Amino acid sequence: MHHSLFGEVARPRIRWGGTVLFRSGLLEALESLLVFAFRKKIMPTYADLVKPELLLQPVYQPGKPIEYVARELGLDPSTIVKLASNENPLGASPKAIAAGKAAMDSIQLYPDGGCYDLKQSLAKSLELDPEQFIIGNGSNEVLELLGHAFVGEGDEVVMGQGAFIVYKLVTLLFGGVPVEVPTVDHRHDLLGMAAAVTDRTKLVFLASPDNPSGSSNTKEEVLELIEALPEHVVFVLDEAYSEYLDDPVDLRGLIAKGSKVFCTRTFSKIYGLAGLRIGYGYGDPELVSLLNRAREPFNANAVAQAAAIAALEDRSFVEKCRGENADGVSFFEERFEPLGIEYIKTYANFVTINVGNGVAAFEAMQDDGVIVRPLAPYGMGEWVRVSIGTKVENARALASLTSFLNKRSG
Ligand SMILES: Cc1ncc(COP(=O)(O)O)c(C=O)c1O
Repeated sequence: MHHSLFGEVARPRIRWGGTVLFRSGLLEALESLLVFAFRKKIMPTYADLVKPELLLQPVYQPGKPIEYVARELGLDPSTIVKLASNENPLGASPKAIAAGKAAMDSIQLYPDGGCYDLKQSLAKSLELDPEQFIIGNGSNEVLELLGHAFVGEGDEVVMGQGAFIVYKLVTLLFGGVPVEVPTVDHRHDLLGMAAAVTDRTKLVFLASPDNPSGSSNTKEEVLELIEALPEHVVFVLDEAYSEYLDDPVDLRGLIAKGSKVFCTRTFSKIYGLAGLRIGYGYGDPELVSLLNRAREPFNANAVAQAAAIAALEDRSFVEKCRGENADGVSFFEERFEPLGIEYIKTYANFVTINVGNGVAAFEAMQDDGVIVRPLAPYGMGEWVRVSIGTKVENARALASLTSFLNKRSG
């Protein structure tokens, strides 16, 4: 008898000439190997079939949803504070929510694939032509469309080290080569990035303010970089957090003059519509129409389009959010100094802090019901990123953070 998955069975026998032989373990191993090799040949797995670059593709790690943490730790979801994804703690404009709800009444219809009304609103707001806008399922999709349009096998894409990870993911997805330029004091080195450009470079990505550092480059630095780029390179300025700046760089003039620059923006941050997934890019109409060829026809849903239009119009809500965010930033920065906590000066809606061990801080704070983002995936293992929350949330995050740091040093 021998053991198999199905319990004890008679050891299989094989005949050799007139002699009956019991199959040895060695024979069985050999047989399994042959079966495995045969199966591989005629029955490949999905991993054998997909494009090889997909197997090398790193997986994006999003901020942990409240419900996951509540389930894992047996906590009441309403007591959990999520400061992990740079969302708007004040929610969305009530006007945007009302517009989204109204759009639900016609939800049986496909959305306007051309996003006519939203493009009209954006054009009015940014004083550009509607044909200069492409709308995405989040600005993330617009970044991916740039990959579709420009990046092929072996093409280089220049970005700062530790920049928003989607630039690297998009590059790798299309078989490109991410060229990461070291930062200086947590700021992107734009002249270094210009120097990293080669004949194979297709795109240069920069977020200013940057995520996850929160640092920002000056207007002069950005313009100097653009000036230094050759004609075969498209410069992409990711303006996901530009609404938080007092005086953001404005590339509309350069776009009008024909410089190869393109900007992306989102409704996920200051407009508080992250759950609806809506963002956009703007640039030269020729580039926009080329990007549109790679776009799925109904990529921006009807509720998101309606809410985005109303959100754009509610300037007083945006101003209120800017003000509250600035207060939250001051709250943290003023307390970090006396506590001797190292942080990066932020220009966005989050603050990035050196806690010695990002994962340990993340876990300890999570036990307190505060979800933050450890930055190991960005090569910043000692750091966590904490989104600015409401006053109450900020106070809870600071208390949890200081308790973690005290325990570490104590
Ligand atoms: C720098 C940057 N760009 C783009 C995005 C993507 O935003 P969304 O796809 O929600 O528009 C984010 C989101 O965190 C970001 O931090």
